[in-house]
Amino acid sequence: MAPAGAMVLGYLLGSIPFGVILTRLAGAGDLRTIGSGNIGATNVLRTGRKGLAAATLLLDGAKGWAAVLLCEHLFPGTGVVAAAAAFLGHLYPVWLKFRGGKGVATMMGILLALHWPSALVYAGIWLGLLAILRISSLAGMTAAVSAPVSVALFSQFDLVLLLLALALLVLWKHRANIDRLLAGTEPRIGSKSG
Ligand code: G3P
Repeated sequence: MAPAGAMVLGYLLGSIPFGVILTRLAGAGDLRTIGSGNIGATNVLRTGRKGLAAATLLLDGAKGWAAVLLCEHLFPGTGVVAAAAAFLGHLYPVWLKFRGGKGVATMMGILLALHWPSALVYAGIWLGLLAILRISSLAGMTAAVSAPVSVALFSQFDLVLLLLALALLVLWKHRANIDRLLAGTEPRIGSKSG
């Protein structure tokens, strides 16, 4: 019963498409028809609204963080189940015909709730690479792949499998970005197309 409760609550929280909601509320149109069509903060930035992008980043992270902590509080021992459910909710939200985001911000929030030192490593890699390369997808994917390695290095072996699965899903959702990276056409943040 408890895992089922965490699955439902986790999924529902994770499935809230903050990027789409905030962009619509701000009168900036349907995010899914803008830029890459993705519902994450990077694409919100392409609307030219920096504050909205920052809010999307924070809220997409916060829902992952809240899902884990809330479910752990209501149904003790279900943190990992809630994390997986929230992540799947973000990637495959029923409200958007299962076409959701790519998971980088939500994974960060989940990691913060499960093991904050690894979240610091994740944030450092993500923001550091973003500042240097200005390619959001590459920075995000590298941070995601760092997470299972990082928890293993901190001897948090019970989290390795979950984070490995999440990292693989992040890569899967970035397959169009990977194609563009290999072709040298992935836009940089702040560039005309990026
Ligand atoms: O977090 C999303 C980012 O990694 C890529 O977004 O819109 O450039 O495909 P986008």
